[in-house]
Amino acid sequence: MSKLDIITIPDPILREISTPIERVDDDVRQLMDDMLETMYDAPGVGLAAIQVGVPKRLLVLDVADEEEGPKPFFMANPEIVRLGDTTRVHEEGCLSIPGIHVEIERPGDVVVRYVDRRGEPQELAANGLLATAIQHELDHLDGRLIIDFMSRLKRDMVIRKFKKQARVD
Ligand code: NI
Repeated sequence: MSKLDIITIPDPILREISTPIERVDDDVRQLMDDMLETMYDAPGVGLAAIQVGVPKRLLVLDVADEEEGPKPFFMANPEIVRLGDTTRVHEEGCLSIPGIHVEIERPGDVVVRYVDRRGEPQELAANGLLATAIQHELDHLDGRLIIDFMSRLKRDMVIRKFKKQARVD
């Protein structure tokens, strides 16, 4: 396994729409494993392939706490098939926008359909942090970021800050 570089704003690739995975083969599994290692190292609870520069509908997640031990999910072509009626508010961060947190209200439970690491179709009912993380990562696949939930003024401020930083680096 190897650690990958995480792309940060304002890189325009983060706004791209990711395309479906045709087949979960060894190359895809390798990417899944590298993404998981990259996410654990960051550390974060979710990572979409576009965040490592691959515009494919692929994400990894693990919201388990240390006591529970690792409980990774690998999702190719994830699709939400049901959204619950209740909502959940969470202060979300993003590995592509380090240091920024945005309070976001989303449906509190979801049912997601995806293809797993073995290429098998799965359906998962999730709530709590996992439901929030799934929706956050799915947003990435459509080029949507947590700063899009901010007011225009605040969003522009964040983008300016990161543009300035990118020039210094
Ligand atoms: Ni993110």
